[in-house]
Amino acid sequence: MKEDTYILAIESSCDETAAAVIKNGREVCSNIIFSQIELHKLYGGVVPEIASRKHIEKINQVIKEALVGASLRLEEVDAVAVTYGPGLVGALLVGVAEAKAIAYAAGKPLVGVHHIEGHIAANYIEHEDLEPPFLCLVVSGGHTHLVKVLDYDKFEIVGRTRDDAAGEAFDKVARALGLGYPGGPKVDALAKEGNKEAIVFPRAKVEGNEYDFSFSGLKSAVLNYLNKCEMQRIEVNRADVAASFQYAVIDVLTTHAIHAAKQMGITKLALAGGVASNSSLRENLQKACKGEGVHLYYPSPIYCTDNAAMIGAAGFYAYQSGVRHGLDLNAVPNLKIGQKI
Ligand code: KG4
Ligand code: ZN
Repeated sequence: MKEDTYILAIESSCDETAAAVIKNGREVCSNIIFSQIELHKLYGGVVPEIASRKHIEKINQVIKEALVGASLRLEEVDAVAVTYGPGLVGALLVGVAEAKAIAYAAGKPLVGVHHIEGHIAANYIEHEDLEPPFLCLVVSGGHTHLVKVLDYDKFEIVGRTRDDAAGEAFDKVARALGLGYPGGPKVDALAKEGNKEAIVFPRAKVEGNEYDFSFSGLKSAVLNYLNKCEMQRIEVNRADVAASFQYAVIDVLTTHAIHAAKQMGITKLALAGGVASNSSLRENLQKACKGEGVHLYYPSPIYCTDNAAMIGAAGFYAYQSGVRHGLDLNAVPNLKIGQKI
């Protein structure tokens, strides 16, 4: 019997060109990330055409580095996993085409992975004891979801944003504060110097589903506040704005996640996605979870933002449950969580 399973994983859904080798779903043998942030900074956000071109330039190099870093030859890999959605179609296509070519040339099984299911699986890497079922708060640049993880390949969305994603709100407010792209880490840092109670920004209540989120009203409230200050020639304390805005986001995320866990009788809560690396969100949730007897899990920051290790973790469980994609696998920019193609 062969004891260990190695997955070569590829991620190119947005502005990170990444490859990794994962052993048995939880052990990272290598994790190579080429971040394009410096390129996109100039434009204040990700430019899809530039992202695709850079992925093409970098993808072979990161895959080579991932194999070398893991001291593995391609022949020793058991399967090739790749993100095939959701994301930017041109960016996704680079990873999908590359994975298909490698799988075909090396005669390896191909496993398509959902990007958000990858973010959730990032939690398996450093938490040996974490197994489904658990509740996961997914907060990234494009998504804000409360997901019941019923099994490694079974998901139920219990709450979602009706408008902006949490990360999107961070990026837009950061731009208004003149902090540049990507805004999340910059707001996070600036907020540490401010007073989170200086300005009371609204916490939106959404009708219909108590677990749903809405962040566009909050974003507008921050922009209105900044405009009003400018018109009245009042000096803005940017650190206070950053801290108060961040607190409003974190307050809503924490309240919803804890409320859902309590209502559903779930004692394990995981965080996932780029915004999960926010230091105040981690602290606030940790405090709230302690009071409620809920165990909180979150990945190290490097596994929160886009990476291929998380795709390898999700890919391993998909591979184990028999998922195999053909060479007709295509990029699916609006792929839904739990959707099987
Ligand atoms: O998961 P991710 O890398 O990409 C998507 O799948 O969208 O998330 C990127 C998002 C960006 O909006 C970025 O501003 C946000 O995560 N982010 C943060 C922090 N680090 C990254 N937001 C708040 N605080 C942070 N420390
Ligand atoms: Zn992501």
